[in-house]
Amino acid sequence: AGPCPSGATRVPLSQPLELVGRVGVLPVQGPASMFLPIASPSGRAGQDWVDFGLAEPHTVLFHEPGSSSVWVGGRGKVYFFDFPEGKNASMRTVNIGSTKGSCLDKRDCENYITLLERKGEGLHICGTNARRPSCWSLVNGTVESLGEKRGYAPFSPDENSLVLFDGDEVYSTIRKQEFNGKIPRFRRIQGEIELYTSDTVMQNPQFIKATIVHQDQAYDDKIYYFFREDNPDKNPEAPLNVSRVAQLCRGDQGGESSLSVSKWNTFLKAMLVCSDVTTNKNFNRLQDVFLLPDPNGQWRDTRVYGVFSNPWNYSAVCVYSLGDIDKVFRTSSLKGYHSSLPNPRPGKCLPDRQPIPTETFQVADSHPEVAQRVEPMGPLKTPLFHSKYHYQKVVVHRMQASHGETFHVLYLTTDRGTIHKVVESGERERSLAFNIMEIQPFHHPAAIQAMSLDAERRKLYVSSQWEVSQVPLDLCEVYGGGCHGCLMARDPYCGWDQGRCVSIYSSQGPVLQSINPAEPHKECPNPKPDRAPLQKVSLARNSRYYLSCPMESRHATYSWRHEENVEQSCEPGHQSPNCILFIENLTARQYGHYHCEAQEGSYLREAQHWELLPDDGAMAEHLLGRARALAASLWLGAL
Ligand SMILES: *[C@@H]1O[C@H](CO)[C@@H](O)[C@H](O)[C@H]1NC(C)=O
Ligand SMILES: *[C@@H]1O[C@H](CO)[C@@H](O)[C@H](O)[C@H]1NC(C)=O
Ligand SMILES: *[C@@H]1O[C@H](CO)[C@@H](O)[C@H](O)[C@H]1NC(C)=O
Ligand SMILES: *[C@@H]1O[C@H](CO)[C@@H](O)[C@H](O)[C@H]1NC(C)=O
Ligand SMILES: *[C@@H]1O[C@H](CO)[C@@H](O)[C@H](O)[C@H]1NC(C)=O
Repeated sequence: AGPCPSGATRVPLSQPLELVGRVGVLPVQGPASMFLPIASPSGRAGQDWVDFGLAEPHTVLFHEPGSSSVWVGGRGKVYFFDFPEGKNASMRTVNIGSTKGSCLDKRDCENYITLLERKGEGLHICGTNARRPSCWSLVNGTVESLGEKRGYAPFSPDENSLVLFDGDEVYSTIRKQEFNGKIPRFRRIQGEIELYTSDTVMQNPQFIKATIVHQDQAYDDKIYYFFREDNPDKNPEAPLNVSRVAQLCRGDQGGESSLSVSKWNTFLKAMLVCSDVTTNKNFNRLQDVFLLPDPNGQWRDTRVYGVFSNPWNYSAVCVYSLGDIDKVFRTSSLKGYHSSLPNPRPGKCLPDRQPIPTETFQVADSHPEVAQRVEPMGPLKTPLFHSKYHYQKVVVHRMQASHGETFHVLYLTTDRGTIHKVVESGERERSLAFNIMEIQPFHHPAAIQAMSLDAERRKLYVSSQWEVSQVPLDLCEVYGGGCHGCLMARDPYCGWDQGRCVSIYSSQGPVLQSINPAEPHKECPNPKPDRAPLQKVSLARNSRYYLSCPMESRHATYSWRHEENVEQSCEPGHQSPNCILFIENLTARQYGHYHCEAQEGSYLREAQHWELLPDDGAMAEHLLGRARALAASLWLGAL
């Protein structure tokens, strides 16, 4: 950044808070002033967020698709939120309390709720309970203690904890002993015989996600889990951590020898690769995984979305198929094992509860990694996209636009407490991803702790340490610029109908949507886009000003034109969300008309139109229109 013109100090540093008190949405790189009020202009009634009334440093969120409610576990209590359609949201709390254990400090003595799960008619609740992990059941508003339950909740809320329920079976990565057994394991803690992973098969794992996959034959059902671990390759060039997928047979009964008896006998792991070979960019750190089942119920076609980051905290999304993962485990040789494989081969599930022969166990246990790596789908085996944002969590919604085309829409949380909506379109051969919107879900901007998607009701539920918010997926009223702006947004949930940009779900009849991703606006009834309304301001000579134009489209170049001269031009990817024209010292010839124009291919739209009029009065310094909402950081970023 160059020297700061003295005018920069005129930006109202003390009031960038137009954001506070609003739930809003803005197109990515859009302006702060685009924030919507709580009750949105479309007439959606009701408040879409509720705050806890105090800080909840650790939250866990439980939502059942199809319901309008969300349960959130906090400190010593469970919150119940309801977001009825068209009404204000409401909150109730249920106290869980905690027993006084052998805790050391105040934080330690709390009962952090870390697990919420449906159990029959009630809710199964587990928490740290002052370092005595315990569970409760909540049925009909009554809390009943289930006593100390090791493995269901960790001793402290920061511990890596993953618990997977499947009918009567429960799997967990939580250690059962407080001081012994520090090596993390993946266990079956309820259901069939209790099993755990050998201590040598993973190095310092950080578990991300686990899932059960029902395959063609019940005896072949698998548990897959995703994790990061220290890279066994200590070459200084090699990354410190690697990302993995592991498999286990759900029907694993443990082995026959004393070494294999309570261990998983079907463990194998593979490396998950997410790198762009053409640019040599590697993304090694898995952050989150989302599984999108195939609509026709073919388990092999389940899409596995992985969010990865690199050491600079840039991100990439890679998409894998469960079929590819399964094939790698079924067919690959084992890394570092050069003899012929025993029969049955390591990792194979056996029917009729047959035990795995000790020889097979020994080979797998000493060579747990398969040689072949799991690569992304598509002929190029590259990421779907990469980005300079540091994404943390992902959910994916499969939806059909009004003309029947299917889109996968990704919702990614950023480390700034916002959500990016990314539309994946195009053929499997060459997928394209457009980042079309940034959503600010909270009243108080804060980091997103949890996110849950309800594909049926088309809502996202997100929690921060302060509040819980419901966000509709079909936010269409944010797109300005008439029919052209609506279609150029390329938002598959939105279309043009009766003079408004509307949700395809809210309209009775068909809405206008484009099937031409290059020039969607060509389908609008009006051949020319609407012109921006003229805004006038009177300004004194020899003063400093700036004109700010929100860059609502990710794809357009914005320029400020004064009469016939382009005075400022901002390309897509511009570092500030606004295209700003500075006027250092207003001279007589600088009065007149200023147009901000957005150009994308053959499409040109006027976004702003200002007339600067001479004023010899006392208005020496003046900040114009929407620019008021610019936070200081945006201002400095633009210099
Ligand atoms: C919702 O809450 C707002 C502000 O608290 C209030 O003005 C409004 O009347 C409420 N609406 C309903 C439907 O209760
Ligand atoms: C919960 O309460 C309802 C109505 O009060 C009752 O019909 C139901 O049997 C109760 N369920 C349990 C599990 O107690
Ligand atoms: C990555 O590797 C470093 C160095 O071995 C280790 O300290 C860190 O915990 C690892 N992070 C993971 C597994 O996410
Ligand atoms: C990346 O993000 C993590 C936390 O999310 C932070 O601790 C770390 O310092 C960041 N690294 C860089 C290079 O910015
Ligand atoms: C603007 O220009 C005028 C005349 O050219 C000059 O007198 C004045 O000092 C300038 N103002 C600033 C702030 O540079």
